[in-house]
Amino acid sequence: MTDARQGLTGLLDTEAIRKDFPLLDRTVHDGKKIVYLDSAATSQKPRQVLDALNTYYERHNANVHRGVYTVAEEATALYEGARDKVAAFINAPSRDEVIFTKNASESLNLVANMLGWADEPYRVDRETEIVTTEMEHHSNIVPWQLLAQRTGAKLKWFGITDDGRLDLSNIDEIITEKTKIVSFTLVSNILGTVNPVETIVRRAQQVGALVCIDASQAAPHMVLDVQALQADFVAFTGHKMVGPTGIGVLWGRQELLEDLPPFLGGGEMIETVSMHSSTYAPAPHKFEAGTPPIAQAVGLGAAVDYLSSIGMENIHNHEKAITEYAVKRLLEVPDLRIIGPATAEDRGAAISFTLGDIHPHDVGQVLDELGICVRVGHHCARPVCLRYGIPATTRASFYLYSTPAEVDALVDGLEHVRNFFG
Ligand code: ALA
Repeated sequence: MTDARQGLTGLLDTEAIRKDFPLLDRTVHDGKKIVYLDSAATSQKPRQVLDALNTYYERHNANVHRGVYTVAEEATALYEGARDKVAAFINAPSRDEVIFTKNASESLNLVANMLGWADEPYRVDRETEIVTTEMEHHSNIVPWQLLAQRTGAKLKWFGITDDGRLDLSNIDEIITEKTKIVSFTLVSNILGTVNPVETIVRRAQQVGALVCIDASQAAPHMVLDVQALQADFVAFTGHKMVGPTGIGVLWGRQELLEDLPPFLGGGEMIETVSMHSSTYAPAPHKFEAGTPPIAQAVGLGAAVDYLSSIGMENIHNHEKAITEYAVKRLLEVPDLRIIGPATAEDRGAAISFTLGDIHPHDVGQVLDELGICVRVGHHCARPVCLRYGIPATTRASFYLYSTPAEVDALVDGLEHVRNFFG
């Protein structure tokens, strides 16, 4: 144990937690135990979630909202039960405000398309502006570019400071009376920055703009209270919060979901259909056309149960301690530059860095030989790399099962990389 490891407080009992995650026991490259440091890309899954998926398929598989037979009613109860669990997890005022999607990208595209087809007062046109930021994942940039191209609206964005924070110095010029929607990430997937929601929401509310928050890197790691955020829409995905892939969530304020038009048409989302026109089911069903991701929603419900049983506050404290330790240890590595806040304050558990002029893909490959799993590249946030004049970064990201020993393994691995490349 290094000196820095002594005195870490707030850590979870990772020995017990790791027993729930079968993949963490895996070895690669002739018996090297994996060190999984890529939870920002996707988290590992506990047995409780895997069992829920299996049990659903083995015992309750049927389509939802249709059948009158027992198994179909069970499937519906499980699917809608998952909605209740998610609503409670994010403190939604109503379960009907929780829309299941495929992932966070689909949730954000759904918001852009609701607005794209909307009438006044939500209409987006060439007289209006859309605001996002330079630190977004592509999923919170491209849908707004598409909307701007289609409607003629102007796309504006906040820049990033040298130390990886949002530059809000010109907030009154970026968010104006013309702004229809402000969409930004709560926690950056590449920089790890936790953004000042209150300041942005306050300005958006002053000008009557809607607010959409990408909480993909927040929902797995901290208490997410949609009422406290005071946003209009909040998007996140299941697979980063120990749930399965193929399930995302869009929370939206009820009156907006009532007013705004659907995006996808099809089964499940209608009230009546004739050859001339259709009327729509109330939200959330209005936005869930077709057979939904039933098993995946059930798996997400189990994930929410799992995280809640440990406690989001406890998970957050654990990650804060690990992140503080990781920042400190990484800064000891010669030639290592953290891209993003080089502190544990107001930052999440994803840390991007460069290592001298060694290409991140080479860093990732040598670390893989040691069983260490990190992500390399632009992390679907290419404008951030352009902002810092770098082609890519190496990113280590931590979660409730990460340990200080894994941070040490990464730091030792990086020494190995440096030696390897002379
Ligand atoms: N959005 C995921 C990441 O940041 C895939 O790695």
